[in-house]
Amino acid sequence: MPEDKVIIFDTTLRDGEQAAGATMALEEKLEIARQLERLRVDVIEAGFPASSPGDFQAVQTIAREVRAPIIAALSHATLDAVDRAAEALKEARHPRIHVFLSSSDIHIMHQLRKNREEIMAMAVAAVERAKKHCQDVEFSPMDATRTEPEYLYALLEATIKAGATTVNIPDTVGYAIPEEFARLLVGIKENVPNIDRAVLSVHCHNDLGLAVSNSLAAVRVGARQVEGCINGIGERAGNASLEEVVMGLITRRDFFGVAVGVDTTQLYRTSRLVSDITGFPVQPNKAIVGQNAFRHASGIHQDGVLKERTTFEIMDPHSIGIPSSALVLGKLSGRAGLGSRLEELGYRLTPEEMSQAFEAFKALADKKREVTDRDLEALMSDRRRTQVEMYRLEHVQVSCGDHEIPTATVRLIDPQGRVLTDAATGTGPVDAVYVAINRIIQVPNTLKEFTIGSITEGTDAIGDVTIRIQKGGRVYTGRGSSTDILVASAKAYINALNKLMAIEGVPESKAAGSAT
Ligand code: KIV
Ligand code: ZN
Repeated sequence: MPEDKVIIFDTTLRDGEQAAGATMALEEKLEIARQLERLRVDVIEAGFPASSPGDFQAVQTIAREVRAPIIAALSHATLDAVDRAAEALKEARHPRIHVFLSSSDIHIMHQLRKNREEIMAMAVAAVERAKKHCQDVEFSPMDATRTEPEYLYALLEATIKAGATTVNIPDTVGYAIPEEFARLLVGIKENVPNIDRAVLSVHCHNDLGLAVSNSLAAVRVGARQVEGCINGIGERAGNASLEEVVMGLITRRDFFGVAVGVDTTQLYRTSRLVSDITGFPVQPNKAIVGQNAFRHASGIHQDGVLKERTTFEIMDPHSIGIPSSALVLGKLSGRAGLGSRLEELGYRLTPEEMSQAFEAFKALADKKREVTDRDLEALMSDRRRTQVEMYRLEHVQVSCGDHEIPTATVRLIDPQGRVLTDAATGTGPVDAVYVAINRIIQVPNTLKEFTIGSITEGTDAIGDVTIRIQKGGRVYTGRGSSTDILVASAKAYINALNKLMAIEGVPESKAAGSAT
């Protein structure tokens, strides 16, 4: 008998973006969506069109540009929201409308201030409306794991009858325990008479650190879609980490007996991209994609792996796309050497992109004796960021010291291509740079976090700056890297401001400095 397939549903761009500080610009979402397509996930939840014009545009753009996977749009259970989701998905080759509505009494009574009958009617009406727009409709009873089971069964039966082709069981608050969650799914299979007409899906949050365990327990008893996010990002403690779910199912295929369609060799690259765009580092001991996930420190383990890899490795790092050796490039390395290394790191470049990358590599190799894989990743990230930016850093110069007032001169290129220059003093060199930038791009915001690290060891290492700025209720993350930490700091701030402006709009240019 052929194995069942488990549908992999990625919600990095929707639930993942709900993580505080993970706001992404349109181009960044599109880049992640393209990478998720390369990863061959089955479904990409691209956003929540009714929630903001930015989300609408992101879903619309991804639906138009990313053709292989199903593109899902989340929707409240109201007719207007469903219509808006359908509108955003108009150009999708494989559209899905995902309707959600709370089903637990806690939510129904305290948040929605309705009763169960009203919720049932709303859910059915919304699914029926979605069905008028597209065949593929998913329904999620939010907070399902704290919902009275009999009511949950009735709601699922009614929404399947109304046309839902997937019913998703969210553990919205990360409350479930694997054995209990599996029992809930068995109960659904036994008590929802038409359950065989829909795919049974799960969506687990990680408040108790059990999101992956709950998802796997659900597959074991018949769930055939798992929702999650790359690197496990998401609301509060996050969602189930997709790379862990996928590798769990593949590595223990003997136990689960299911197939997944993902190209696992793209997992590492996808993880790096999401980390880079969101500014959320991947912890070193993170399963599958952490820096130490395949490093063997103890002598006994090293000895074992050298003799036979499987002694202490249950997965082949190549199968995740982790490059084989930490080959080091340098000043004398040629274009071919760089090209093959970048390819091994998962980058697919056009000849023109390759030429630009080579130029940037040569400039870096002039400053740095050894260029490692991590340097190359930083270089490529920096290039990616500057390509999509409205304002670009042209030049920064700082004068400071123990008897000087830190003074910075900054030159930027604005979206119209004009060169804008200004200078300012500050309490320190970074402050002076930021004040000068503020004088040019006049967008009030609060700096919430400034972190500086280095990509590799040594005094010639690339400095990597992550900052988070806040405007209104939203936090925007910016990253910048350079061998000069003041340049990295300036790049990070401009990157964050660009994201803020991409979402909130560009203010009238009131550049204080000279324009040429
Ligand atoms: O956690 C949750 O309940 C959700 C739903 C919208 C599916 O994200
Ligand atoms: Zn969720």
